[in-house]
Amino acid sequence: MDRQWVAEAVRTVEADANRSADTHLHVFPLPSRWGVNLYLKDESVHPTGSLKHRLARSLFLYGLANGWIGPNTTIVEASSGSTAVSEAYFARLIGLPFIAVMPDSTSPEKIALIEFYGGKCHLVTDPREIYSESQRLADETGGHFMDQFTYAERATDWRGNNNIAESIFQQMTLEPYPVPHWIVVGAGTGGTSATLGRYLRYRCHPTRLCVADPEGSAFYSAWTTGDVSTTAGGSRIEGIGRPRVEPSFLPSVIDRMIQVPDARSIAAMRWVHRLTGLDVGGSTGTNVAAAVDLIREMIAAGARGSVVTLICDQGSRYRGTYCDDSWVAGQGLDLAQHLAEFEEFLTL
Ligand SMILES: Cc1ncc(COP(=O)(O)O)c(C=O)c1O
Repeated sequence: MDRQWVAEAVRTVEADANRSADTHLHVFPLPSRWGVNLYLKDESVHPTGSLKHRLARSLFLYGLANGWIGPNTTIVEASSGSTAVSEAYFARLIGLPFIAVMPDSTSPEKIALIEFYGGKCHLVTDPREIYSESQRLADETGGHFMDQFTYAERATDWRGNNNIAESIFQQMTLEPYPVPHWIVVGAGTGGTSATLGRYLRYRCHPTRLCVADPEGSAFYSAWTTGDVSTTAGGSRIEGIGRPRVEPSFLPSVIDRMIQVPDARSIAAMRWVHRLTGLDVGGSTGTNVAAAVDLIREMIAAGARGSVVTLICDQGSRYRGTYCDDSWVAGQGLDLAQHLAEFEEFLTL
């Protein structure tokens, strides 16, 4: 009986992938005289609005294939929001209850989205408790703790299978510089950067991987020092930057890391919207700010080529935070100098 249910659940999850078109790759408007092109891989157009739609699908297939998920399993996840939104969607798709454990600072927009997909939100005051509280709830309900932070790098097929890396390279084939100089992403679980870093080496691409890290994250110092026991206060940019080095973070596949101040991330998020009309989230701003640094270096070195980064989710999720001037001022963040820097960048 259970095997029949598992087979039907796998078919249902796979059918979701089959119904979905691939996410777009946008050209970012830069002066053509530079001979450097910037591309934004738009993961915000997934059915659940973020790059986490891919991860959630992989985690469900991984749990089903491992025999961890059955017809009566309550699904529990520790998430800052995006993953929980996508997992709530898949749990409902296969008819299972879903509980998301998250910090009580998570944006109301994200909580509403999880509940829209039928999920329950379990809030904790100390963000560091999300792991133990998730395990406790899974034990209490006889459910399964999906644990994205541990399994993101294992559940995603880094060799291909239309993962994000394969999709980027396929969509770059007709571009002037089809093999990017750099791919720039952020890290929350570290799963996206692990998949990209492994794929670049597996496919023998010269492309280098840069991870952009916000304030309050443990990743940058762990990557520079090699000390993975490093901790930090926690990030203000939702989805990226972690107070501890997560198990799915793979420093060995990362060629470069760039720290981006929160004010610069939010300024970049608004700059992207002004220049392209694309409504993007905070972690996209972090990515684009780091990409600007790398492009400055390429221009200074007279290098020609392409840089690819990600739109991770939609700005509509941050109306009450990064899009709100009084919230930004309340955080003591001054965007003006960074916006001026981005404008000056285009005059190079
Ligand atoms: C909005 C957003 N951007 C970026 C990321 C980072 O992705 P990953 O967990 O694959 O490192 C996340 C992860 O939760 C996210 O929610």
